[in-house]
Amino acid sequence: MSETDRYAVLTRVGPGTPMGGYMRHFWQPVAALAELTDEPKRVRVLGEDLVLFKSRSGAFGLVQERCPHRSASLACGMIEDKHIRCSYHGWKFDLEGQCVETPAERPDSKLKERVKISGYPVQECGGLLWAWLGKKPAPLLPRFEYLVGEGFDRDMTISAMPCNWLQIAENNMDPHHVEYLHLMYTNYVLEKQGRPPMQMRHHAKVDYDLFEHGIVKRRLWEGDSEDSEEWRIGHPVIWPGTLVVTYPNGVLQAQIRVPQDDTNTIIYWYNARPRPAGQPPKHGVPVGDNPFKDENGKFYRDNLNGQDMMVMLTQGVIADRSLETLGESDRGVVLYRRVLLEQIDRIARGEEPMGVVRDEAGNTPFIPLPRESHVGYSFEGVDAAPGEKWAEMAPKEAAE
Ligand code: FES
Ligand SMILES: [Fe+2]
Repeated sequence: MSETDRYAVLTRVGPGTPMGGYMRHFWQPVAALAELTDEPKRVRVLGEDLVLFKSRSGAFGLVQERCPHRSASLACGMIEDKHIRCSYHGWKFDLEGQCVETPAERPDSKLKERVKISGYPVQECGGLLWAWLGKKPAPLLPRFEYLVGEGFDRDMTISAMPCNWLQIAENNMDPHHVEYLHLMYTNYVLEKQGRPPMQMRHHAKVDYDLFEHGIVKRRLWEGDSEDSEEWRIGHPVIWPGTLVVTYPNGVLQAQIRVPQDDTNTIIYWYNARPRPAGQPPKHGVPVGDNPFKDENGKFYRDNLNGQDMMVMLTQGVIADRSLETLGESDRGVVLYRRVLLEQIDRIARGEEPMGVVRDEAGNTPFIPLPRESHVGYSFEGVDAAPGEKWAEMAPKEAAE
């Protein structure tokens, strides 16, 4: 396969594509529970336009948006007990997408029996609504600590990124960018703002370990011992493209990337915050926006999430890898691309990719992931996200 073909394979996610097939081996979040009202919600995921709703019975539905009769949107439909009904001529669909009523036809009409639209299973976990767009039977929805671990209060913000998913996920296989984008560049911005600089640190070495659920990346800062948790343990990017990172005060953040299509990606910045002893659990999992540009249309340059989104978006809508000049420090990115292609090959051979959970590990009590409890650098002085003071999120130190 040529380089160009390889990158086309890695970035195209629609139905029938190899990467789209790979992505369909994982439960994908399609919305935050807190975003759902009593009306259907349009969602676009892996190149499909769908409608998400909570039926009156309490079960969630996710079906093709376009009504197969004469194409009205089911986003304008009526939610019923275990169904959604098109507002135009009343065709009614169950949660599997089977048409069960065509009321304008004669009562003995068999038309409905041959009308079926896409209908996907949906499960709530951790305040996110996860959909299974792959072949059935669906595997278990992996219960990671950030979603179900005890003793956390949870919240999230969402960024709608007009670019391909891969360049977003690749950011996390690139530990060196922390030293430049988040330290050197931050200091460049802070100096312009007349603010004091952060302390620079330098990588002595980085390394990567493949494991069942993803790739762990480890870094050793110059001046730290090889006993440092960042070198001994590290933290993972889990399949297909989610970063899971711990902050020293125990805040756990998952950055979940869900392709809407080849040129648009949703990032869920999902936080599990340790609940102080004696405090009752907070109700629900609130959701907010995490924009990459300010009210003047300029990229946010002085917060960590904004800096990452700035560089991801300026790489192009679908970064053209034929223009790259890779060095030794890009080893993690190269490894990630290679392993993704290997996963696609596994599927072509009729095997399942790594990280698909079909046994009890998906249910009890959560799937542990390697992650540091302590890191050797503080981003104090720069915010985590617009309006989110780093100090409030991770009072002492942070990793990425
Ligand atoms: S367009 Fe939906 S029922 Fe006619
Ligand atoms: Fe970053």
